[in-house]
Amino acid sequence: MTTNPAQPTEQVKQARTVEQQVIGNPTSDGAGVKLTRVLTQQLQHRLDPFLMLDAFGSDNPDDYIAGFPDHPHRGFETVTYMIAGRMLHRDSAGHQGLLENGGVQWMTAGRGVIHSEIPQQEEGVMEGFQLWLNLPGRDKMCAPWYRDFTSADLPRFVTDAGVDVTVIAGSSHGVHGAVTRDATAPLYLDLHLPAGSRFTQALPADHNAFVYVYRGEVSIAGTAVPARRMAILANAAQADGVVIESAQAARALLIAGRPLHEPIAQYGPFVMNTKEEIYQALNDHREGRLA
Ligand code: CO
Repeated sequence: MTTNPAQPTEQVKQARTVEQQVIGNPTSDGAGVKLTRVLTQQLQHRLDPFLMLDAFGSDNPDDYIAGFPDHPHRGFETVTYMIAGRMLHRDSAGHQGLLENGGVQWMTAGRGVIHSEIPQQEEGVMEGFQLWLNLPGRDKMCAPWYRDFTSADLPRFVTDAGVDVTVIAGSSHGVHGAVTRDATAPLYLDLHLPAGSRFTQALPADHNAFVYVYRGEVSIAGTAVPARRMAILANAAQADGVVIESAQAARALLIAGRPLHEPIAQYGPFVMNTKEEIYQALNDHREGRLA
């Protein structure tokens, strides 16, 4: 769906500044997929409700071909955004979907799924992101949920400044995204900024927010943020949004959400509130009760 609505401007009187820039950690996961973990476990409290952001991108099949064979999740949501490439998802709740060029897969693990994510290509570029969004304690044991959005399904618009915006979650300039969540109110935008452009987005002051640049370089409140950097935006009480400027063509993700302020207990693919709930998840998985 492509929308070109009347665009209420996202008025920003005082723009957020960059508190910190983060270079991701190169790592591998699944059966040996090379990726960069941009949002690591030590940033989970600072960027609550977000638990993880992985960026993957390679034109070498050895880096991705093995994929992510069957593995469990419980207690949160995974949002996979595929820029280029094809990946087949299958899970124990009976869902199956092919994720490809520009598509998004949103999966709520809830009380548990076992799923696989396997590349459907033997050559070419595979590039994308996986974001983990926490669930509030009261929803961690909810029924699993799953949706695939093709590139054409995702709401998209172009600002007067020529910025091409895909609204994966939340809303921007009056355009509502593919997914909304009451507890965490996630905003997830993919911004394609032409040279010499400027993009504004209102953000509630208490929502945690970050920008991940994946092409070119942007400037946020005077701070240059180059490609493959995550800029954590400061939460000043008076700041009402973010202004992203780009002297050259750039692409960036803008992600924000309302913090849950709950304890976070993570063991690998399980994210709960307490250790006891983690032991329960391990037991349930071992005894086949997770799926
Ligand atoms: Co997974």
